[in-house]
Amino acid sequence: MTNAIEVNELTKFYKDFLAVDHINFKVKQGEIFGFLGPNGAGKSTTIRMLTGISLPSSGSANILGYDIVRQPVNAQSLMGIVPDISNIYTELTAWQNLDFTGKLYGIPKSTRERKSREILERFELYERKDEKVIGYSRGMRRKVCIAMALVNDSKILYLDEPTSGLDVKSVRSIRNLIRELNEEGLTVFLTTHNLVEANQMCDRIAVINRGKIAAIDTPQKLKSAMKRSQSVELSLLNDTGSMDRFEGISGVLSIQKRGDKIRLVTSSPGQTLKELCMLVKTEDLNISSLNTLEPSLEDAFLELTGMEMKKEVVKMGKGRR
Ligand SMILES: Nc1ncnc2c1ncn2[C@@H]1O[C@H](COP(=O)(O)OP(=O)(O)O)[C@@H](O)[C@H]1O
Ligand SMILES: [Mg+2]
Repeated sequence: MTNAIEVNELTKFYKDFLAVDHINFKVKQGEIFGFLGPNGAGKSTTIRMLTGISLPSSGSANILGYDIVRQPVNAQSLMGIVPDISNIYTELTAWQNLDFTGKLYGIPKSTRERKSREILERFELYERKDEKVIGYSRGMRRKVCIAMALVNDSKILYLDEPTSGLDVKSVRSIRNLIRELNEEGLTVFLTTHNLVEANQMCDRIAVINRGKIAAIDTPQKLKSAMKRSQSVELSLLNDTGSMDRFEGISGVLSIQKRGDKIRLVTSSPGQTLKELCMLVKTEDLNISSLNTLEPSLEDAFLELTGMEMKKEVVKMGKGRR
């Protein structure tokens, strides 16, 4: 069977700046393929090249057998695109947006109308189809974008950070929709900077950083990297004791001092926390803060590749929940 996407040494320069650096990968038909990386990694640039919006500087991409540079129309007729920046006309209604997209693809009126109705009903937008999009919530707007990408019977759906900036409920609803569409046979190419999203959604994940693919793996592999990078972080009042005290605690893989905080990287946060509490009691320590931290993209990336991310990303990691 032809692969859905085959990418060969794909490269993009913006003047002298190398945004995507000789990347290679294959996406099988029916997969949800994740493209995971921090801001500025080259995800959107890659999607733009794969969808014929931007020309590669070198290398090639094949979409269901069609070369995206030499046969863009054939390739584009098989794909739906949800770009990072909304392509909706907010002064038009949802119905008009879908109709307009259908016209661009040259779909006959009756098919266009049937298809638009089907999609909007499925996305629970049909009741409000005649309202201008400007009055929609962010989540609804995002759904309209996805709906527009499906008007032309796409075989591959490209989604550039489809859940970023949305509330929890919309995120869940959009992830469910993507899963359903995939179960019906749609191949999905999904970019995200969210490790949890990639993990939950994707069959395989390519990790991209600074324009280079660092790893292509199943989420299981990422998960094991994540397990190794959970941590318990505490700060103590008036403490002058040695770090050695924490070494014997179960699960602790390493101990890091960060400002007034002590971070215990652990394979087993629950057990570590339990024993830490016992130590606090026996040594009569005064805790001023205590947190368990989920692994960040930066940690998992380090685990996966042994490569440091660039500085901005490390800063971004501080905002973790
Ligand atoms: N049109 C452009 N002109 C110049 N530089 C760009 C342009 N688009 C993106 N870049 C740069 O290329 C790099 C990759 O950007 P992008 O593909 O948008 O990353 P991501 O989607 O992973 O956040 C960034 O450093 C960005 O600043
Ligand atoms: Mg982007």
